[in-house]
Amino acid sequence: MTSICSFKLNSLTILLVFCSLATVSFASLRVGFYKSSCPSAEAIVRKAVNKALSQNPGLGAGLIRMHFHDCFVRGCDASVLLKSTPGNPSEREHVANNPSLRGFEVIDEAKAEIEALCPQTVSCADILAFAARDSSYKLGGINYAMPAGRRDGRVSRDDEVGQNLPPFFFNAQQLADNFARKGMSVDEMVTLSGAHSIGVSHCSSFSSRLYTFNTTHAQDPSMDPRYAAFLKTKCPPNSASEAGAAPTVALDPTPNRMDNKYYMELKKNRGLLTSDQTLMSSASTQKMVVNNARNARKWAAKFAKAMVHMGSLDILTGTNGEIRRQCSIVN
Ligand code: HEM
Ligand SMILES: *[C@@H]1O[C@H](CO)[C@@H](O)[C@H](O)[C@H]1NC(C)=O
Repeated sequence: MTSICSFKLNSLTILLVFCSLATVSFASLRVGFYKSSCPSAEAIVRKAVNKALSQNPGLGAGLIRMHFHDCFVRGCDASVLLKSTPGNPSEREHVANNPSLRGFEVIDEAKAEIEALCPQTVSCADILAFAARDSSYKLGGINYAMPAGRRDGRVSRDDEVGQNLPPFFFNAQQLADNFARKGMSVDEMVTLSGAHSIGVSHCSSFSSRLYTFNTTHAQDPSMDPRYAAFLKTKCPPNSASEAGAAPTVALDPTPNRMDNKYYMELKKNRGLLTSDQTLMSSASTQKMVVNNARNARKWAAKFAKAMVHMGSLDILTGTNGEIRRQCSIVN
């Protein structure tokens, strides 16, 4: 809870109610946090995102994913942006991030411009949260107010990534459990998986579904055979081992357009990852998929809300952490 809230609740009961409600959804973050300390901060981020995505829309997918990978590992503290130091491999080294995570240069550009105007005022964690929001707007017309006031962490560890991020081979129950550990609901998990409406995946994240599924089926029987045949042309059997240069495949047929088509594809057994298709094949989540496929507006509204919730996970505020001068290194 914020110090402002604790101060005010001594005098006014109504603020106590307000503050405790606010705490539930945003912890101590606030919309318009930089209104007086750096009024153009959010505009600078939006401009940098729009410029970068006009040239390469895929960076928007990268930024939304980067925010997720930040928030699920050590909270939304920009730990995902820190480079390794001697003896300390950072989150960026983990196979879930390296080499697939992209968009770092967009954050760096926004940070440099903001730093020139408002030195050590705007955190990298907030810049990343804004950039993910602005990417959702640019690619999907999904706009929402993103509360801010996060501070940057000073720790980033490779080995914490695997303990926190869900891998692509998880089933619906495992995914639900993973999100529950962060205080997020099954419906939020299904809703946020809709981010796979944009961007790409490397062959290594799904090629076992094409060639080595299990001892009785070489190919995952839950995948549309025509889709599998198409994927095999993109990902030859050996493509899994060459992660870096390996080809990528769009996560849905319109990878630069954020919409609910992802869920329609799941209904046709055309989900790319095991963690996608399981949402349709599992009884516990199937209805959510069907509803999201049916109602684009409702999904978009839920997506915005879930992004704000995700953006509040395990944050550093007040005098904890620091405001980094450069997003890839601690001060
Ligand atoms: C539910 C559990 C999730 C799993 C298992 C998962 C896994 C993955 C995997 C394996 C990839 C492809 C990486 C590669 O091989 O290149 C990917 C891409 C992506 N993920 Fe997820 N993800 C999950 C949830 C999310 C969430 C919650 C978000 C954001 C809200 C998200 C956003 C993205 C985006 C935008 C991409 C495309 C990235 C790009 O094109 O650069 N994912 N995810
Ligand atoms: C292989 O997968 C299929 C479909 O999911 C399943 O029915 C079968 O029992 C599995 N076989 C083994 C040996 O695990």
